[in-house]
Amino acid sequence: TSCVAIHPSILNADQAHLADELARVEGADGLHLDIMDNHFVDNHFGGPSFAQTVLEHTSLPVDAHLMIENADRWAPQYAEMGCAIVTAHMEATRAPFVLARELHRLGAGAGLALRPATPLSAVEDVLGEIDLLLLMTVEPGFGGQSFIDLMLPKIAAARRAISAQNLELRIQVDGGIKRSTIERAAEAGATVFVAGSAVYGVEDALAEIEHLRALASG
Ligand code: DX5
Ligand code: ZN
Repeated sequence: TSCVAIHPSILNADQAHLADELARVEGADGLHLDIMDNHFVDNHFGGPSFAQTVLEHTSLPVDAHLMIENADRWAPQYAEMGCAIVTAHMEATRAPFVLARELHRLGAGAGLALRPATPLSAVEDVLGEIDLLLLMTVEPGFGGQSFIDLMLPKIAAARRAISAQNLELRIQVDGGIKRSTIERAAEAGATVFVAGSAVYGVEDALAEIEHLRALASG
């Protein structure tokens, strides 16, 4: 179906050729921009000025995945600069309702993310306020890790909770998404798929995006 979206992650793209790497995935449904502060995760990547550069070199809607502490303080600037969706980790947000409303006021969609071991119940009461639920399918921090199968029941439970509350927010999965895993994630109920190494690790990124989209569409 057309509601399936593939968002390439540029974390593992060739950073020395950023403009070319962004051009290579024009035709995807969105661009996934990882931001890491070396505290929330053991890695550093991106930041506001890098995000600005990315926004200037892509026509795709950008979803910013903030793997940073104190997201309430730092998230709004990513909405102000024009990211389509700004996703904070629930574990790093103290006031998710206030943050979601602030992101909406600034014209962006609001997302909340869960690390693999954070239970779905942590966000259940906030689902009605957000546009995207990001379920991590690897421990956040690095690309190229393998998909955690134990996340499949969590995706399915999120799908049930969203249906039960009659909501329309989307479920995004991030980590280890590739040909061999995307169908199971889609069957469980995800509709937005982040793919880093699967897309950037091949010659023809667009063909891979098409292939993944077809698999996810069933
Ligand atoms: C990991 C990042 C992911 C990463 C995914 O912490 O949030 O977006 O780029 O990379 P792959 O698709 O290679 O698992
Ligand atoms: Zn990510």
